Amino acid sequence: MKITVIGAGNVGATVAQLIANAELANEIYLVDILEGIPEGKGLDMYESMPVLESDSRIYGTNNYELTKNSDIVIQTAGLARKPGMSRDDLLVKNAEIVSTCIENAFKYSPNAYYIIVSNPLDVMTYVALKVTGLPKHKVIGMAGILDTARYRSFISMELGVSMQDIQGLILGGHGDTMVPLTRYTTVAGIPVSDLIPADRLDEIVKRTAGGGGEIVKYLKTGSAYYAPAAAVTQMVESIVKDQKRILPCSVLLTGEYGYKDVVVGVPAVLGKGCMEKVIELKLNDAEKALLKTSCDHVEATIKEAMELIKK
Ligand code: NAI
Ligand code: 2OP
Repeated sequence: MKITVIGAGNVGATVAQLIANAELANEIYLVDILEGIPEGKGLDMYESMPVLESDSRIYGTNNYELTKNSDIVIQTAGLARKPGMSRDDLLVKNAEIVSTCIENAFKYSPNAYYIIVSNPLDVMTYVALKVTGLPKHKVIGMAGILDTARYRSFISMELGVSMQDIQGLILGGHGDTMVPLTRYTTVAGIPVSDLIPADRLDEIVKRTAGGGGEIVKYLKTGSAYYAPAAAVTQMVESIVKDQKRILPCSVLLTGEYGYKDVVVGVPAVLGKGCMEKVIELKLNDAEKALLKTSCDHVEATIKEAMELIKK
């Protein structure tokens, strides 16, 4: 297994370290535009492996040629939010960065699976699909696991119970229009509505939707990376070990949920074929309306991104 992580910043470097710790790949290439940074971080991580008892080997580079024949490429390069910025504010610069990085990686790894992380996430996943021309099952985005992890953390804080017993699902775009499905949220099999009053659950849902912004406000110079990197690693693990986990991922819809030609978060089975299946849920009218708002927003931003790329 050879994995390339593009972007040796906060998310990329943390992903590389987590993947190496878990020995999910024999070789990991960390690529960045900055000189010295990927090499330095890569070597530092390589040198941590004897202590961590992993035989994963990490190499940092500016040269895409070395990433040749990667099995999985993870795209994290791009600008991150600062306080006051929305994910969509990153569109212009990141559309350019993502298309350049993915073009370079695809030249050397046309058979790889691509996991996109750069924001605005759903739109950047669409850009990567267009740049590569790959089928939808090979190019997916990470956001839903992160959003769901935040939601699960907040429910666990509220109830004072293990995070592992909380199951939840979030659909839609990665942004303020995400769609947390409280109806499908359970705590050790118990519907969450039996344990948390509706008004309090609403507050938790709102905190989840603003979860990325909450971290940006604290950090001031960037955005979250520990939870995002853990989420990417879970996707990689499910693919590499063919676990067939059902995880919320950003996927190009081709009729599912009544939508076409838009990328949004839906539950999907991840295994050795990458995104092997989209799970379709029967949504009620309120959930359908929320998903529509989310899809409309992503569709409009995709249009803007495609205009930018044409220029
Ligand atoms: P960062 O600023 O720490 O790292 C970004 C890295 O990209 C830098 O090292 C920079 O040199 C590199 N880079 C910029 N242009 C490049 C190019 N043309 N080629 C190669 N490398 C290039 O940012 P961080 O925190 O790692 O976030 C990265 C991206 O991931 C941001 O767009 C952020 O919004 C997004 N993100 C998305 C999440 C999600 O849930 N989908 C969660 C967290 C972050
Ligand atoms: C987040 O939700 C930055 O999109 C990223 O933290």
